[in-house]
Amino acid sequence: MRRTHFIASLFVFLVCVALLLHSSGRRNADDITSRQANPEAASGRIVKKLIRAKRHMVVAAHPLAAEAGLEILRAGGSAIDATIATQLVLNLVEPQSSGIGGGAFLLYWDEKSKNLKSYDARETAPAAATPDRFIPKDGSDPQWHTTVHSGLSVGVPGVLRGLELAHKQYGRLPWARLFERAIQVSEDGFTVSRRLNMMLANMGAEAFGPVARAHYFDASGAPWPVGHVLRNPQFSATLKTIAREGAAAFYVGDIPAAIVEKLKVAPNAPSDMTVEDISGYRSLVRAPVCAMYRSYNVCGMGPPSSGALTIGQVLKLIEPFDLGAEPLATNALHVIVEAQKLAFADRGRYMADHDYVRVPEGLLDHGYLAQRRTLIQRDAAMVKAVAGQPPQRHARTFGRDGTIERAGTSHVSIIDGDGNAVSMTTTIESAFGSRMMVGGFLLNNELTDFAWRPTDDEGRPVANRIEPGKRPRSSMSPTVIFAPDGKLWALTGSPGGSRIINYTLKTIIGMIDWKLDAQTAADLVNFGSRNGPFEVEAGLEGAGLLARMALKGHVGAPKPMTSGVHTIVVTPDGLEGGADPRREGVAVGD
Ligand code: GLY
Repeated sequence: MRRTHFIASLFVFLVCVALLLHSSGRRNADDITSRQANPEAASGRIVKKLIRAKRHMVVAAHPLAAEAGLEILRAGGSAIDATIATQLVLNLVEPQSSGIGGGAFLLYWDEKSKNLKSYDARETAPAAATPDRFIPKDGSDPQWHTTVHSGLSVGVPGVLRGLELAHKQYGRLPWARLFERAIQVSEDGFTVSRRLNMMLANMGAEAFGPVARAHYFDASGAPWPVGHVLRNPQFSATLKTIAREGAAAFYVGDIPAAIVEKLKVAPNAPSDMTVEDISGYRSLVRAPVCAMYRSYNVCGMGPPSSGALTIGQVLKLIEPFDLGAEPLATNALHVIVEAQKLAFADRGRYMADHDYVRVPEGLLDHGYLAQRRTLIQRDAAMVKAVAGQPPQRHARTFGRDGTIERAGTSHVSIIDGDGNAVSMTTTIESAFGSRMMVGGFLLNNELTDFAWRPTDDEGRPVANRIEPGKRPRSSMSPTVIFAPDGKLWALTGSPGGSRIINYTLKTIIGMIDWKLDAQTAADLVNFGSRNGPFEVEAGLEGAGLLARMALKGHVGAPKPMTSGVHTIVVTPDGLEGGADPRREGVAVGD
C-alpha cells in the first residue's frame, strides 16, 4: 500500500517537473499563441488582502473606477448610481475591456421590495446582417484579425441604454452627477498602468485604427509608457453631451452618425449598420435564471447569456457528490470537470438569444440532470461529452457550435448602504474591441460571439447563428447568491470569454463547499474544461493539479487563465470584498 502511494507521488512529482520544463521551453510559442488567441493576457499577480467594510462596497477592475463608485455611494447614491460612475471611469482606465461602445448584463437586487431583476444591455446585430456575415466570398475560413478589426464585428452598443433603464427605475442621484468623475479623469488624465501598457504592447500599434493608434501610442508606434498621463478630451466632450441630454444623445444625432460613418470606411470590411439600427436599440428586463445549490440560491443571467444555465447545470450535476472540505481535492476536481463537459456540450447545442431560438425549458430539469449525471464516472474522464436531450416543448435539432470567445471583459460588484446590490459584467468583447475609436471610446467586436458559420459539419443550423437584430450568445455570468435563510449573501462574476463560466464556478464552489472567503476564492488556481481538454492555470500549483488529474485520465496543458473575479460577501460582521490577483482590481468600502 505504502509502496503504491510512493510510486504515485513520484509519478506526480515527475509529471510536475516535466510540465514546468515543457511550459518554460514553450514560452515563445505560447506567447505568440496567447497574443493572438487570448488577448486579455496575464500581467503578473498582485497579492491582495480581503477588504472589510460595514456600510457599502465597490469591487471593480481599476482603483480609479472603484473610487468613482465609492464617491457616489458616499454622496448618497444607490448601487445603480455607483455602477454608472464606475462604468464610465472603467471606459477610460481599462479601455481594453469595456465601455459605452459595448454591452453588459446587470443583475440588480432591490432590498426593499426583495426583487431581483436582470437587465440585458447586450449588443444587437444590424437589421441587414446575414448568417454568413463572416464567411469570405470564396467560402474559405474567416480570419480572426481581419474580421475583428473590421466593420463586420461591431454590434449596436447597449451599455448606455441598459444603465439608463436601471437608473430610471433605481437611481437616486441626477444622471449628470454620475458623469462628473469620468469627465474630470478624461480632462486631467490618468497614469497608464502596467497592465494597460502591457496589453497595448502585446497587441501592437498596427492592430488599431488610426484614431485609436494615435490615442494609445506615440508617433513611433510605441505604447504610452507606464506612468504616462493619458488625457481623452474627445471622450470628455462625448460624456458632457450624454450627461446633459441623456442616453438618447448616444442613440440619436451626431454620435450614431459618427459611428455609422466610421463603420462605412472600416478597415478590412465595412459594416451595414445604420443610424436606425442604433436609434432602435432597446435594453430589456428579463427574468434571472436561478439554481438551488446546497440550499443557496445561485442566480444569474439567462439567454442570450449561457452563463447562468451552464453554471446551474454544473452545480446541480455535482450537488449529490461530496467535494470534501479541502479545496481542490482530486476527486472533487474530477467531478466538477466532468460536469463542466456535460454542461458545455448542452451550451454549445442549445443556448442562444431565446427571442430568436427556442432554448429548451428543461436544461435545469431535475430528472434530465439526474440522467446526465450517470455519465460521470468516478475513475474515467470523458474525452468529449455529447449534448443531451433536455425536455422541450418545441423539439428542434440544433448543430454543434464552435464559436470562439475572447477574453476582454470586466466585472463590477457593488452594495449600497441600504443593501441594494449590483452584479454587472460588461464587455467590448476581445481586448480593445474592434480597435476602432469614435468620440474617444472604442467600438466593440461583440458580433464575433456569434457562430462564425450558420450550420455545423452535418448541415444543421446552429442556434447561435447570426440573424438581424439578434444578440450574440454570451458567457458573461454576473451572479447573485442568496443564503439558505433567503438573505442576500454574495455577488460575483469575472471576465474571461467562455472561461468566465468556470472562473465563476470555481469561486462559487470555493465559497460554498470549501468555505473560502472572497479573496481566497479569487486567489485559488484556475481550472476547468469547456468540453475539450482539461485546462489549468500555468504555474507550479497548476502543474501539480494537472499531474494529479492525469491519474484520472484527464489530458490538458497549463495556460494563462487571466480571470478577474470580483466578489462581495455579506457576513454577520459586515461586507467582505475580494479582487482577483491576476488583474488590477480593488475592493473599496466604508
Ligand atoms: N464577449 C464575452 C461574452 O459575452 O461572453
